[in-house]
Amino acid sequence: MALRIIRELGDPVLGKRAKEVREMTPKLRQLIEDMKETMYDSDGVGLAAPQVGMLKRIVVIDVSAEQDQPLVLINPEIIEKDGEQTGWEGCLSVPGKSGQVTRPKHVVAKAYNENMEEYTIEGEDLLARAICHELDHLDGHMYVELVEGRLYTNEELDAMMAEEEAAAEKEAEEKA
Ligand code: NI
Repeated sequence: MALRIIRELGDPVLGKRAKEVREMTPKLRQLIEDMKETMYDSDGVGLAAPQVGMLKRIVVIDVSAEQDQPLVLINPEIIEKDGEQTGWEGCLSVPGKSGQVTRPKHVVAKAYNENMEEYTIEGEDLLARAICHELDHLDGHMYVELVEGRLYTNEELDAMMAEEEAAAEKEAEEKA
């Protein structure tokens, strides 16, 4: 296994449409293992093949707390979506930044696993957000195109969270 270099916003590969996977090969298996390792190493919850410079319709996602439940989605397609959620979103290709994005609250997707067996995956909240975000990468789209307002740095975000926490504490004290 090896870490791959993550391409950043502005790299032309991130604006291209990735191609369908027709059959699993040792090279693609290696790519998938490397993508998982690269995602975990960067503390990400998802990574799409174009982000490591490979124009293949392959995505890895792991939204579990222990980061030990990797999902592999090959040639994924969203077949159902409903509801709405607005929240913070970031991307390993846009390091140190976040923005508010509205996504479906619930999605159902079909995809193939590493053995090219078709399966269906259902996601709510963070998983729904991750599936939409990663699938956009396969069509050359980035979340920054969908951001409401502007991008915030992680420092700004931390300061805002701290402020919100302090306000909530003050409110709790006043009620006590
Ligand atoms: Ni991303």
